[in-house]
Amino acid sequence: MEVVDSVDLTGRTCVITGASTGLGRESARALATAGAHVILAARNMQALQDAQQWIMAGRPDARTSLVALDLTSLASVRAAAAVLADLAPTIDVLMNNAGVMFTPFSRTSDGFEIQLGTNHLGHFELTRLLRPQLAGARVVMLSSDGHHMSDIDLDDPNWERRDYDKFAAYGASKTANVLHMVELNRRYADDGVHAVAVHPGVVGTSLARHMTREDFGALQAMAADNRDRGAMLDTILTPERGAATQVWAATTAELDGAGSVYLADCAIRSDVAAYAMDGGRAARLWEISETLSG
Ligand SMILES: NC(=O)c1ccc[n+]([C@@H]2O[C@H](COP(=O)([O-])OP(=O)(O)OC[C@H]3O[C@@H](n4cnc5c(N)ncnc54)[C@H](OP(=O)(O)O)[C@@H]3O)[C@@H](O)[C@H]2O)c1
Repeated sequence: MEVVDSVDLTGRTCVITGASTGLGRESARALATAGAHVILAARNMQALQDAQQWIMAGRPDARTSLVALDLTSLASVRAAAAVLADLAPTIDVLMNNAGVMFTPFSRTSDGFEIQLGTNHLGHFELTRLLRPQLAGARVVMLSSDGHHMSDIDLDDPNWERRDYDKFAAYGASKTANVLHMVELNRRYADDGVHAVAVHPGVVGTSLARHMTREDFGALQAMAADNRDRGAMLDTILTPERGAATQVWAATTAELDGAGSVYLADCAIRSDVAAYAMDGGRAARLWEISETLSG
């Protein structure tokens, strides 16, 4: 809320995926309170209605709309995009925020590994379909410092030829979010689209719903060789504080012309993995994603 303290978003339209809880819901509250028409998209309509009520409890005249979206189904993504075409002829902010983490192995209804399918491929298709409405838009990709856990295997993105590793699969999907930003900035530059990637911090949300105590210990061990990241695991932010960087990323003019950047703590961060910013790999992931999403 402090980030939008003196920001007026009247007349702007923002679409947020995964806005039923956690960081997406907090971002929706901030952007709607600043006057934007905020479209909350997620798969649980009751939870979306609860989020809408919660936002309106703080600002009764907040303008919000709800759209059903299940990123594990390309049919649902296409249906949501069709609804959004009517609801939002122009989109000023697209926040690709929804996500799952460390899920047991499973596949989406289109056969994609569930973390890549939800976190990247569903958003890839949604963003592609919304292109006509995105001229001049800021696209905010929720990545994570978890991208340091793994590059994406472009020869086996859907874990068809390897034993599944839920940590590496999350890392790969969050690397894909950064690569998506890089290639989106190249391909949609003529439309004035500007994509940025965000690490929100380590935030106490339901994202950790699939984590066991052992998983948390394993993560701390992985972070042990990096004092900064290890320390970060001890600092759990509230969703309101965690949402600050993505709300800043969506609204600040300070990032105009900044190109592909990785953000944390409301600032540009340099410690993004080189493999996540590689233009050649970004182009290849785009082509693979296009092929997979048909
Ligand atoms: N929390 C952290 O520490 C942290 C750190 C780094 C990055 N991030 C990133 O921040 C983003 C938001 O995470 P969060 O912490 O706010 O998690 P969260 O509280 O679990 O919220 C995730 C949101 O995504 C939605 N979602 C999940 N699967 C979906 C699907 N198939 N279709 C549509 N919506 C779906 C959830 O809806 P349901 O409730 O219906 O599943 C929920 O609204 C994620 O991309 C995550 O990777 C979070």
